[in-house]
Amino acid sequence: MSTAQTPDRRPRTQRPRRYLMCRPAHFEVVYAINPWMDPDKPVDAALAVLQWERLRELYRDLGHTVDLIDPVPGLPDMVYAANGATVVDGRVLGARFRNAERFPEGAAYLDWFRSHGFAVHDPEFVNEGEGDFLVTASFVLAGYGFRSDQRSHQEAEAFFGRPVISLELVDPRYYHLDTALAVLDGDEIMYHPEAFAPGSRALLETLFPEALKVSAEDASVFGLNAVSDGLNVVLPEAAEGLAAELRARGFRPIGMDLSELLKGGGSVKCCTLEIRP
Ligand code: ARG
Repeated sequence: MSTAQTPDRRPRTQRPRRYLMCRPAHFEVVYAINPWMDPDKPVDAALAVLQWERLRELYRDLGHTVDLIDPVPGLPDMVYAANGATVVDGRVLGARFRNAERFPEGAAYLDWFRSHGFAVHDPEFVNEGEGDFLVTASFVLAGYGFRSDQRSHQEAEAFFGRPVISLELVDPRYYHLDTALAVLDGDEIMYHPEAFAPGSRALLETLFPEALKVSAEDASVFGLNAVSDGLNVVLPEAAEGLAAELRARGFRPIGMDLSELLKGGGSVKCCTLEIRP
C-alpha cells in the first residue's frame, strides 16, 4: 500500500491536450508478446470498440483534441497508440518495435506524423514510443529491460535535447514503463517501486521524493496506465485505492473499463499518444 505521505491538496489546473488514438477496428489477441496476452482467451471485439469509443468521448468531453490514425488490418496492437512515437516540442521521435508482429506499426505512425507536417526522426534503436518514454517537466523518463533498447535513451536525449533518465524494469507484467509509472503533473509522478531494479528505485526516490507510490494491488489492475491533464486522471476503474489517493492529492480520478484491451496488455495510457506542441 502506498505510504503515509501527507496528502497534498494544492489546487490543480487542467491543461488541454492533443492526443492521437487508433480505433481498435482490427483488434484481436492472436499472439502473445507480454504475459497479459492469451490467444486462447476470447476477446469481445465489439465491446473493445465500444470501450475505446467511451475513452475517446471522455477526452473530448474534457476539452482535449483527439486526432485519429487509420487502423491497419493485420496490426491488432495498433490500438496501443502510445507505442507509436514520442512527441516533445512538436518534434517526433518515431518508434522501432522489438517484435516482428508490431514492427510495421513504426512506419504507419511515422507516415501519419509526416503527412501532418511534423519533423520526424526515424530511429536507429528499438524504442516503443511512449510505452517506454514518459515526459515530465524536467526529464524524459525512459524504461528498458523488456522492450526499448537502452541505446535509444541516448538517441532520445540527443534528439529532444532534454535529460533522459534510464530506468530498469524487472517484472515482466510491467514490461513497458507506462505500466509501472505515470506522470501526473509537471515533475509529479506515481509509480510501483517493485517494478524497478534497486538502482532505478533509488534514483526515483532521489529525483521524486514526493511521488505517489502505488501498491501491488493497484498496479496489477493496470492502475498506472493512466493519463493526466493536470487535474483529471483517467485510469482503469478497478484501481480504486489509487483513485482515492489521487483524490486526496487534489486530482479528479476518472475510472474507465477497458476490459477487452487489457487482454492485449494495455489500458488507458497505452491507447493514448500525447502530441506535445
Ligand atoms: N500487446 C501490446 C504489446 O505487448 C500492448 C502494448 C501496450 N502499450 C503500452 N503502451 N504499454 O506490445
